[in-house]
Amino acid sequence: MLMFKDIRKLSGWLAWQDFSIIRTVVSAQNGEGAAVLEIGVHHGKSFIPLAHFSADRKLYAIDVFGRQDLNVDGSGHGDKTAFLGNLHAFGVDASRVTIDERLSNDVSASEILSAIGPVSFFHIDGGHHMSAVTNDLELALRTVTPSGVVAIDDTYRPEWPDVTQAVFSNVDFQREFRQFAIGFNKSYWCRPDFVQHYQKVIRADSNLDAFLRKTYAVPEGELPIYQEYPLPEWSIASVLRWYTSLRFPGLSVMLQRSSAFRSFVALLRRLKRAISR
Ligand SMILES: C[S@@+](CC[C@H](N)C(=O)[O-])C[C@H]1O[C@@H](n2cnc3c(N)ncnc32)[C@H](O)[C@@H]1O
Repeated sequence: MLMFKDIRKLSGWLAWQDFSIIRTVVSAQNGEGAAVLEIGVHHGKSFIPLAHFSADRKLYAIDVFGRQDLNVDGSGHGDKTAFLGNLHAFGVDASRVTIDERLSNDVSASEILSAIGPVSFFHIDGGHHMSAVTNDLELALRTVTPSGVVAIDDTYRPEWPDVTQAVFSNVDFQREFRQFAIGFNKSYWCRPDFVQHYQKVIRADSNLDAFLRKTYAVPEGELPIYQEYPLPEWSIASVLRWYTSLRFPGLSVMLQRSSAFRSFVALLRRLKRAISR
């Protein structure tokens, strides 16, 4: 089975938490047989897990690759040679993949549907400006199955404010889809009837649950959140915990599970209290 450490060194952007959410959600959809699509495949860091966990389902990869003059906001720098090399290195069957080298604004929903049929996992990670994200949400609205998922990279990220604005100002998208999880750097959406289903799927993963930072009450229930931003008020211990979970997620899970480590932390806290009295 593909592990996060296998793809960690690939050029691109994917956190352990989002890798794990992709693994659990995509694997849970395999019985349905519908396709998987990513806009902005870059070198394949997130596309390879999507391909790996989706059994033999069809895949659609969109990236302008060599036409970086079209990548107007400079989000990443796709490279077809690197992408194809990584697909080969990770054993992705090329016959499953339709590669579309156009700007996503030039791709129509009917072209996607006729190439791969309806989509059950639609990952938006291409252009990060208003018109690109709005276009990509509209493609999702027209191609995603009733039980399908839309994942949107960089939602809430201050460096890319248009992403958040495009998502929350899109009346059609907001009417049809509900957020069922906030990952490390992606938001995950499905239609209201499936929110609880997908939340159950991801909460069943005990390793992922070790990275749950909070749940937040929304009309559909408790929204799981797997991200937190460091604050100037944090103690050194909190910063170390945060850094360990960021850079060494496997170690972080192990430490959280270790009763010896928990006792050691409790001892340090008691010592600190005793010293400060
Ligand atoms: C942030 S990167 C994607 C990261 C990637 N998903 C990963 O796993 O690391 C964005 C990619 O989208 C491509 N791109 C940017 N704007 C685009 C657009 N409007 N249509 C299609 N591709 C676009 C870029 O070439 C780049 O490879």
